[in-house]
Amino acid sequence: MYLHKELETMTRPEIEKLQLERLQKTVRHCMNSPFYKKRFEENNLKPEDIQTLDDLRKIPFTTKQDLRDTYPFGIASVPLEKATRLHSSSGTTGNPTVILHTQKDLDEWANAVARCLHMVGLRPTDVFQNSSGYGMFTGGLGFQYGAERLGMLTVPAAAGNTKRQIKFMTDFGTTAVHAIPSYAARIYEVMQELGVDPRRDTKLKTLIIGAEPHSEEQRRRIEEMLGVKAYNSFGMSEMCGPGVAFECTEQNGLHIWEDYYIVEIVNPETLEPVAEGEVGELVLTTINREAMPLLRYRTRDLTRVLPGECPCGRHHKRLDRMKGRSDDMIILKGVNIFPIQIETILLQFKELSTDYLITLETVDTNDEMTIEVELNDMFTDDYARLQSLTREITRQLKDEILVTPRIKLMPKGALPKSEGKAVRVKDLRKTY
Ligand code: COA
Ligand code: AMP
Ligand code: ZN
Repeated sequence: MYLHKELETMTRPEIEKLQLERLQKTVRHCMNSPFYKKRFEENNLKPEDIQTLDDLRKIPFTTKQDLRDTYPFGIASVPLEKATRLHSSSGTTGNPTVILHTQKDLDEWANAVARCLHMVGLRPTDVFQNSSGYGMFTGGLGFQYGAERLGMLTVPAAAGNTKRQIKFMTDFGTTAVHAIPSYAARIYEVMQELGVDPRRDTKLKTLIIGAEPHSEEQRRRIEEMLGVKAYNSFGMSEMCGPGVAFECTEQNGLHIWEDYYIVEIVNPETLEPVAEGEVGELVLTTINREAMPLLRYRTRDLTRVLPGECPCGRHHKRLDRMKGRSDDMIILKGVNIFPIQIETILLQFKELSTDYLITLETVDTNDEMTIEVELNDMFTDDYARLQSLTREITRQLKDEILVTPRIKLMPKGALPKSEGKAVRVKDLRKTY
């Protein structure tokens, strides 16, 4: 029932004892990081000041901006030659965020993902297919190594090409798939087009869904469509990737592995802890990482710690499904995008004015982004020129945000003007 029985079934006092030991070790280790060394000095803090778990609150928060300011390696706590992998995720503009891993970090990450997959009943006899993007997307290699660590036959199908994904499922006897929730609907749609009945023609029984917010209703729809049990998986590149928090078979919240992370929930305005059980911003401290531990990292994800005990016997806290973000990050097709990235590209075109509107909508079962942008006074009705301008804007945006937007060039003044702060993003996506 448990992959790492001792760690998974620790009592609360045991969890907290281990957390304090690991926190103190992590803080001492962070003094090898030029960033944290300076932060501690500036705040008159010493590693010895951390004597209890509550002392964590003496340490300042770490933010995405800190990651950008120290780009690429300024937060690392080990010399570069000890690091064996780098992942990066989108930053607001300019520099992305970079996370380094040692071989030990990668091993521990694989252990955490294997633990999650085992928790929902997957075993070496299962065939696991991963439809995440590989490369820098941590859902690719993260699930790959975790599924291999568990001993499953693992199919690195990667993103896209849905017909081929379905052929793999039927031919290889795939029993478990990792897909973002909106893509699960696309898989079902293409199955229908191909006359594939998931219950009759596949051995699918488990779906791992995550990387974007979704509702309980959406989960139930996915389960019904594909004839599977679907489990919510939460992670982020700054915390390795997948394997941070995961539902157990009770499907009543996501156990966060407290032997890896210390959880705080704070009010995003005051940065003070919220009352127990209230929604706020998730702040995480890594306590089992070598290359680049992060202390009190502001994730910007909004959630709460669920009250009560889980019948599964694990005492690791449970997070509620994510309620949104405390910043303006958009997640589209499993890709994180900040509107400012789009604005920065648009501003580079002298043909465009500063007025634009981003609309996110579901077209059939695909989530798409349309950007309407006004031309400036140089408006022309030269069709060929407008077409080539559209192509160039699309190309540059795709390079920056990794999904393909639809660009609509509008005459000046055509976009509705809003009172006060301009509305730049309209999210009309269906949660089907
Ligand atoms: N996962 C897997 N495949 C996806 C997907 C997703 N999140 N979103 C879209 N796709 C599929 C589309 O269905 C399409 O395949 P099909 O026509 O055979 O059905 C194909 O990818 C291309 O989609 P399209 O919308 O035309 O492309 P795009 O240029 O806008 O986006 C992607 C390109 C899909 C490759 C890019 O969005 C991506 O890599 N997404 C995955 C990110 C990811 O893995 N995140 C998880 C982190 S845990
Ligand atoms: P990335 O760093 O690309 O892996 O993206 C991490 C972000 O994706 C998180 O900070 C969340 O905003 C979002 N995310 C990941 N998993 C989930 C989930 N299960 N539910 C809602 N949002 C999620
Ligand atoms: Zn449980």
